[in-house]
Amino acid sequence: DKGGWPSFMAKEVTEQPDAVANTIRGRIVDGVVDVPELTAFGDEALSAIRRVIIIGCGTAAYAGLVAKYAIENWAGVPVEVELSHEFRYRDPVISDDTLIVSISQSGETMDTLMAVKYAREAGARTLSICNTQGATIPRESDAAIYTHAGPEVAVASTKAFVAQITALYLFGLHLARVRGSLSADQIGEQLAELEAIPAKLSSVLGVGESIRTLAHWMSDTRSVLFLGRHVGYPVAMEGALKLKELAYIHAEGFAAGELKHGPIALIEPGQPVFVIVPSPRHSALLHAKVVSNIQEIRARGARVIAIAEEGDVAVLPFADEVIRIPLAAPLFEPILAVVPLQLFAMELSTAKGLDVDQPRNLAKSVTVE
Ligand code: BG6
Repeated sequence: DKGGWPSFMAKEVTEQPDAVANTIRGRIVDGVVDVPELTAFGDEALSAIRRVIIIGCGTAAYAGLVAKYAIENWAGVPVEVELSHEFRYRDPVISDDTLIVSISQSGETMDTLMAVKYAREAGARTLSICNTQGATIPRESDAAIYTHAGPEVAVASTKAFVAQITALYLFGLHLARVRGSLSADQIGEQLAELEAIPAKLSSVLGVGESIRTLAHWMSDTRSVLFLGRHVGYPVAMEGALKLKELAYIHAEGFAAGELKHGPIALIEPGQPVFVIVPSPRHSALLHAKVVSNIQEIRARGARVIAIAEEGDVAVLPFADEVIRIPLAAPLFEPILAVVPLQLFAMELSTAKGLDVDQPRNLAKSVTVE
């Protein structure tokens, strides 16, 4: 039931504040992070983990890439992120102090299932992040943290993505507590940031109207580029994926630092480029580098649409459009910055008269390798 919305996707995008809140519920008790599902491993085994490999496909893999920054920062454990099908067929080095974290909304993606089975046979411990109770991947794993995003019907994933990041962040903070890599106060600060996200998501959904105008205006666009740095990089790739899936437009996400190593050659007058701008309050250097990228592409005629936090005026002279997101700590910005990109893809698909929920050639759950 679309509940009065024009599409399941429109409904699911607006359910994102609840998806995050429901995924947090019961996992922060009296200001302490405690993910009960992780007791299956025992604190000793969790402390002994030397390496985390996150696997998934599509949007799930991008949620993993976002979480890599956070988990390494908080828990001090090396984290790799790999596409399930690439991991499975390359003889990866795996030992019993390796934790494989698979991410799958459906819990049925065959590429990811095969990778999990392979990792288990090779002796790794396996944790599943899944949105579907009783699905195959969580059943085949040593432990599962369920995201509570609710059923996701639209083929393009939205609320499951923010719920996956939430679950991975809870995992990262639980790991940091068990390993003693952060103090209780430091963990508390991050948990407060996480608990503030649902309200901020509700506020960022207010950009819908201006995004619709932008999408209508761009409905004959043939190519869109997305630039991001640090945690903004996976957001750029997710924004590009949404646009490919929903609007059948050539789209690519790049790391902003990579611009001068190739992608800048693509910039010609009128080329639309979304840029995810990191907060200047936390890293003036990172922010300045992205603003300088904006200047470089603008000088070559790009049409710049900046996703920037409230009050960041440095982008104003160089951006054609600025879409505002609420203030958040850097590691939490992706959960907010992705929303305008989801809305943009949805509105562009609608403007082109396409089926938002069932894009051509795609399936919600791909159960073949
Ligand atoms: C794809 C879907 O085929 O599978 C994507 O079209 C999704 O939207 C990907 O991100 C992974 O699916 P799942 O269920 O494993 O998260």
